[in-house]
Amino acid sequence: MYSNKVIEHFMTPRNVGTMVEADGKGTFGDPGCGDSLTIYIKVKDEVIEDISFLVFGCTASVATSSMTTVLAKGKTIEEALEIQEEDIVEALDGLPENKLHCSNLGVQALRSAIKDYLNKKEK
Ligand code: FES
Ligand code: FES
Repeated sequence: MYSNKVIEHFMTPRNVGTMVEADGKGTFGDPGCGDSLTIYIKVKDEVIEDISFLVFGCTASVATSSMTTVLAKGKTIEEALEIQEEDIVEALDGLPENKLHCSNLGVQALRSAIKDYLNKKEK
């Protein structure tokens, strides 16, 4: 039921781990299934230089989180804020209908990490 890409990102997720001295950190939990994702970013000249994640969740949430970090890395803050659920799903060659919502974790956690970065910058 999962595409090869989903399985690949589940078996060997990219950019896993916490980050010391992250410039921004964001967590999002899905109240429906209880899964939770934290994303850490390092920003230089408004570009996401480094990104990592920790997730507690299902197979699809691991794959979507991994793909979120792959898509966001090297993008400007502005570009990264435009990443949508569909972009993640498409990059993974699709997700089963009942797992589409898992891609929302990545989008929300990424946006919240960027917000955290922007808030800190203002101070
Ligand atoms: Fe099992 Fe999300 S962790 S459904
Ligand atoms: Fe909810 Fe996977 S089942 S994030």
